[in-house]
Formats: sequence, C-alpha cells, structure tokens
Amino acid sequence: MTAKTPKFWNWMAERYAKSPIADEASYQAKLAKTLEYVDQNTRVGELGCGTGSTAIFIAPHVREIVASDFAENMIAIARRKAEAAGLTNADFRVGSMEVLDGQFDAFLCHSILHLVHNPQDIIAEASSKLKPGGVLISSTACVADMGVGMKILLPFLRWPWLGLTPYARTKHEMRAMYRKAGLEIIHDWQPGKKAALFLIGRKN
Ligand SMILES: C[S@@+](CC[C@H](N)C(=O)[O-])C[C@H]1O[C@@H](n2cnc3c(N)ncnc32)[C@H](O)[C@@H]1O
Repeated sequence: MTAKTPKFWNWMAERYAKSPIADEASYQAKLAKTLEYVDQNTRVGELGCGTGSTAIFIAPHVREIVASDFAENMIAIARRKAEAAGLTNADFRVGSMEVLDGQFDAFLCHSILHLVHNPQDIIAEASSKLKPGGVLISSTACVADMGVGMKILLPFLRWPWLGLTPYARTKHEMRAMYRKAGLEIIHDWQPGKKAALFLIGRKN
C-alpha cells in the first residue's frame, strides 16, 4: 500500500487523541449521512481508523465494525475507548487492508487516501471487499486543489521520517478513481473550498 512506516503515527497517537476535530459541524454531518447507509445488519470495515472515534460512533448502529490502522499506538487507544464505551462489536486490528477480511456492506476511508502511494489500488480493493450494493465512504483532503501554500508544504510533508505521503490529488481525480473501481457516486460533498471531499460510492 505504502512504503512508509507507522513511526510518525505511533508518535502522534496520544496527541491525535487529544486534538479537537477541525470542523466539528462537518464531521457530524458526515456521521449523520453515514448512518443513512447502515443498520443493525450491516458489517462495516474501516481503513486507517486512527484512535477509533468514527468506528466507536458507528458501532452501536451496526452489527459489526472491523477497523484497522498500521500504527499500534492508535489501535491501543481505539481499543481502550471501545472498552470504556462497553462496545463488543468493534474489532480494532493492527495492519492495513490485509487484516480487513471478509465482505462488507460499508467501508470507510477517512483522511487516509491522500496519505498512501496508490489510492486507486486502495479504492479498488475496498470496492472488491464490498457486497453488491455496498458503499465506500471516504473523506479526503484533495491537496492538489489547495493552492500555493500547500504546494510549498508538500515536499516537507513527504519527508521520509514523517511517513506522510500526501500524493496530491484533485477532486476530479478522486471521483475518477471511484468510477474506475466500479463505484457509482451517490453523494458528493465538500463543505468548503479547501475542505476534505466527502464521497459515497455504491457498488452496483
Ligand atoms: C490522518 S489519520 C486519520 C485517522 C482517522 N481515520 C480519522 O479520520 O481521524 C491517518 C491514519 O491512517 C493511518 N495510516 C496511514 N497509512 C496507513 C496504512 N498504509 N495502513 C493503515 N493505516 C494507515 C495512520 O496510522 C493514521 O492513524
């Protein structure tokens, strides 16, 4: 998926857990929209779940959620939070796609597709893990659309120790990658000009 290591994210985990969500209103709107596509029979997968906030919110509304992150410190926090919430249907696994086995009704990729070398492969693999009619839900910073400041920052973000590889993508490219993976875009929302693109695609 990516040659980069989880070193940076392991280092970040406790800080990430404490940091407030940048745009709480948009995040809540995305969660509310997500709930329209799940129910108590739904099996959900999530790649790059971080400290598990989204999975923990979704879990009471679905049959099962299996969420992965390659940073073990992120997963340790997610497990701690799930236990504190008394959840028994949220399974947090250290790893990437390979630990998300089986088929899913919904698959989440939030704030990760801009970090990997090969978002098209990830989207295609997520699509292959979806049952017919299942949905891929992603929120992605389209850094290629973000203007001069981000273009100056990009070489630093790609610095090997950081393990961040925000391969610049445009909104147009994101949508094209969904379509190439056989996903029909049924919801397409960007809360602001530089905000992350929220896409829901259905496997028909
Ligand atoms: C920006 S955080 C987003 C976390 C969470 N999805 C959220 O929206 O808050 C990116 C997460 O993706 C994870 N990650 C990055 N590359 C990954 C990979 N190749 N496989 C699995 N997880 C990865 C990082 O460890 C980190 O927790």
